[in-house]
Amino acid sequence: MVQNKAFIFKKAFNGWLVAGQDLTVEDIGFDENAPPPEGGFTTKNLYAAYDPSQRGRMRDPTIQSYAQAMEIGKPVISVSVIGRVLKSDTTKIKEGALVRIVLLGTETYSRIPKSQLDSVLVLDPQDGIPITAYLGALGMTGMTAYGSLHEIGQPKKGNVILISAAAGAVGQTVGQIAVRQGLHVIGSVGSDKKLDFIINELGFASGFNYKKENMAEAVKRLAPDGLDIFYDNVGGELLDVALTSMKNFGRIIACGSISNYNGVGPPGNPAWRLAKYQQIGLRRIKWQGFLVIDPNITQWKQERDENISSWIKDGSFKSIDHITEGMDNAVDGFLGMLKGENLGKSILKIADF
Ligand SMILES: NC(=O)c1ccc[n+]([C@@H]2O[C@H](COP(=O)([O-])OP(=O)(O)OC[C@H]3O[C@@H](n4cnc5c(N)ncnc54)[C@H](OP(=O)(O)O)[C@@H]3O)[C@@H](O)[C@H]2O)c1
Repeated sequence: MVQNKAFIFKKAFNGWLVAGQDLTVEDIGFDENAPPPEGGFTTKNLYAAYDPSQRGRMRDPTIQSYAQAMEIGKPVISVSVIGRVLKSDTTKIKEGALVRIVLLGTETYSRIPKSQLDSVLVLDPQDGIPITAYLGALGMTGMTAYGSLHEIGQPKKGNVILISAAAGAVGQTVGQIAVRQGLHVIGSVGSDKKLDFIINELGFASGFNYKKENMAEAVKRLAPDGLDIFYDNVGGELLDVALTSMKNFGRIIACGSISNYNGVGPPGNPAWRLAKYQQIGLRRIKWQGFLVIDPNITQWKQERDENISSWIKDGSFKSIDHITEGMDNAVDGFLGMLKGENLGKSILKIADF
């Protein structure tokens, strides 16, 4: 047996998870002499994606949702992991290959059963494309951004778009696509460093730090004629502001509502967020939610793959990662993303490439 450090979910809990109590790093062991699973393979893992959706799976398993609850005492499920194949019992996956595996435990070594082969992508590293982009702009994050912006947002040159959590994984991708398409792109972010990043690195027209400036005043200042599109990653107060800032026939893309994920959303009157509901009718707003697995989103995959790959290669698109180094720091990296400490796509580096 060799050491197999893993990021472990210890307890279903509402509110902020506590490091060392609700989330830990433990050795779960790995038998390097054992054969691979029948028809499957084993990996040494290199990178694991962090995603806010992991928080939604850390819940009481009796609560139903689109994604299965995580098992207490087991490795935290990552949306996608990149690993190097150690032993294989299938001709489809060669030993030594680099693979991306969907919905795998955040652990150093893994055994991948035959039943999971369909979701495994053998990676063919290309010059100019960092391997971690397959967890970000060329992974689930990029699919989310590309598919929903086009399918629901219907962006047109000259449109004004506001993006919340704009310096995060989805936000940086939506923003850069919108800039390329000639939209007037405004970002809401939680720090001055992020504000500088979206404007000076990503080419947004403007933005504001929602922790420093009144949100309603900022949106009025930066979009005096209103918003054509609101890309909502956060929910909460900015959604309310956006509802009263939309132009007639505007589109709201309901991607996520991270301000509520840890049970610390806006307190008080439960009707608070519905207070501006009337605006939907008055302004004839199209407000649509989605999941990245929906067919109307994934139908954009080929176009996303081709465009974003070529944009990264020619240097006109930035796939910025926020890397947490080493499994020992896995808990801090995850909680840091939920607290907004990340710039770009949050990724745990487990081992050297
Ligand atoms: N519908 C889908 O299929 C789908 C797929 C992927 C992601 N999503 C959703 O998309 C959103 C963004 O995901 P991501 O992977 O790109 O994460 P991310 O933006 O890289 O990281 C989360 C960010 O949320 C912001 N945040 C946290 N708490 C906040 C609060 N109370 N108020 C305002 N902002 C807060 C932080 O940025 P600041 O410093 O700016 O606050 C933090 O950096 C999430 O809501 C996620 O659930 C949905």
